[in-house]
Amino acid sequence: MTEHRPTPPLRSQRWYEPDTIRAFAHRQRTQQMGLRREDFLGKPVIGIINTWSEMSACHIHLRDRAETVKRAVWAAGGYPVELPALSVGEVMVKPTTMLYRNFLAMETEELLRSHPIDGAVLLGGCDKSTPALLMGGLSMDIPMLFMPAGPMSNGQWRGQKSGAGTHTKKYWDQLRVGAITRHDWVELEGAMTRSIGTCNTMGTASTMTLIAEAIGFTLPGAASIPAADSGHVRMAAACGDRIVAMVREDLRPSRWLTRRHFDNGIATYMALGGSTNAAIHLIAMARRAGISLTLDDMAAMARRIPVLVNLFPSGNALMEDFFFAGGLPALHAKMRDFLDLDCAGIAGVPLREIIAEAACHDDDVIRNLANPVTPLDRGVTLAVLRGNLCPDGAVMKSSAADPRLARHVGPALVFEGPEDMAARIDDPALEVTADTVLVLRNGGPVGGPGMPEWGNLPIPKKLLTQGVKDMIRISDARMSGTHYGSCILHVAPEAAVGGPLALLRTGDRVALDVPEGRLDMQVPEDELARRRAAFVPTHRNYTRSLVALHQRHVTQAHEGCDYDFLQDATPVPEPGIF
Ligand code: FES
Ligand code: MG
Repeated sequence: MTEHRPTPPLRSQRWYEPDTIRAFAHRQRTQQMGLRREDFLGKPVIGIINTWSEMSACHIHLRDRAETVKRAVWAAGGYPVELPALSVGEVMVKPTTMLYRNFLAMETEELLRSHPIDGAVLLGGCDKSTPALLMGGLSMDIPMLFMPAGPMSNGQWRGQKSGAGTHTKKYWDQLRVGAITRHDWVELEGAMTRSIGTCNTMGTASTMTLIAEAIGFTLPGAASIPAADSGHVRMAAACGDRIVAMVREDLRPSRWLTRRHFDNGIATYMALGGSTNAAIHLIAMARRAGISLTLDDMAAMARRIPVLVNLFPSGNALMEDFFFAGGLPALHAKMRDFLDLDCAGIAGVPLREIIAEAACHDDDVIRNLANPVTPLDRGVTLAVLRGNLCPDGAVMKSSAADPRLARHVGPALVFEGPEDMAARIDDPALEVTADTVLVLRNGGPVGGPGMPEWGNLPIPKKLLTQGVKDMIRISDARMSGTHYGSCILHVAPEAAVGGPLALLRTGDRVALDVPEGRLDMQVPEDELARRRAAFVPTHRNYTRSLVALHQRHVTQAHEGCDYDFLQDATPVPEPGIF
């Protein structure tokens, strides 16, 4: 069998090749599945990690795509095996998929480590699935590439574009004040998400898949191909073909991935007007690769690169428009001065060559630097704030917020959690004005638990009816990337671990200065010291289940919310011969 063995020696051969009773059983069990010895011996074994599930609408086509990947792997001389993994489909998973991101990362890593796998194709795309799969793949460090699930096709309702997430929120507010009817609301259910694929707005899904492409984890152009497009099937075939070659080249992440690749990803994130969630995921991913990255690194990039991609929630187009406009290569050609064009990813092709032929077919969807969606002085993709409310940082997408609120002082109205908020927010007697600063705590990585997307606090109904469209909202939670508004998120340290947010009281004055990067409560230090001494955590503590593990080991938002025992690049011993 050694005559079939390509160079370098295949990891899988430690399972299949030895003259041991254990290796006999591996060959025997593979034959049991109907495979002949010549079908698998000496061939690169390609693990297809598939996050398909009937609880993840965004991934529902991945079962078919896996078959296409397999066809191409066979044709290229490999042996494909599909390994089902947790889907972490956004929307259906309660309380939040973020509670399971690290779990899927662990599952990915361990599936690859414990099985005879030489290379991996990672199938995902719904929000957390992208960072999770990549974190696991990075920790495993075998040749791997990411195949994005692809965005859903454009939605439309009564002649208006409607995008997943962004318009749900918009029409929900209209329903609350009677601007649309119940009948309209039901009709909208079928209008926004009209095809297979991930959210078509610039939410976390498209932000993360496009960042993954920019760093080099996907084939060029892959992330913007709509899921329902025949080109998506062809891209899946190309992934199967490429991964077999990557195994032969031994192109593992540690052999190509650098900080410069991450910087390309961060620059792209800013031009996309991407989701605040990416700030957490990028830090977690970089740490898995042994690369240091901070919120300040990202904020510095944000101050240089304006939002160029005109997608909801910052703009008014959808992913299908972005695809027709030329996709990521077209954007990269326009922002080439901010990119390291020598970087090559899994395709082995430098960015310079990828963008050489790129053309933009719609200058309104992908703007020129001279005509951004949001000029830098009006707002940025990621503003980082610090102050006595958030000593370790908080973030805000000021490009999707009312610029009149960028400097603001107002009284706090504090909610202890989502139940407290839901019970009071629409109370006509609630003491609140447009100047009030709405605060929600116990929504952090430990307190949530899992840092749910509670940070886009609703505008109180009595203000909505007065025409108030935006106000300052602060939390230690996250916000959906499809949402907009003056929401200050990821306050660290969070309230549950005794962060200063826990000390704030209704009526305290809170001062925000986005241009200066400040967020403070105007409470005297001696008063804060008294409150700190009396602090008693109010979040729920779990004693068993994944949640207990999560609460014990999760790091804070500015550290990536990975588990403390996973967040570095320390090698784990490979399984031995027995
Ligand atoms: Fe899956 Fe938005 S719900 S990408
Ligand atoms: Mg989302």
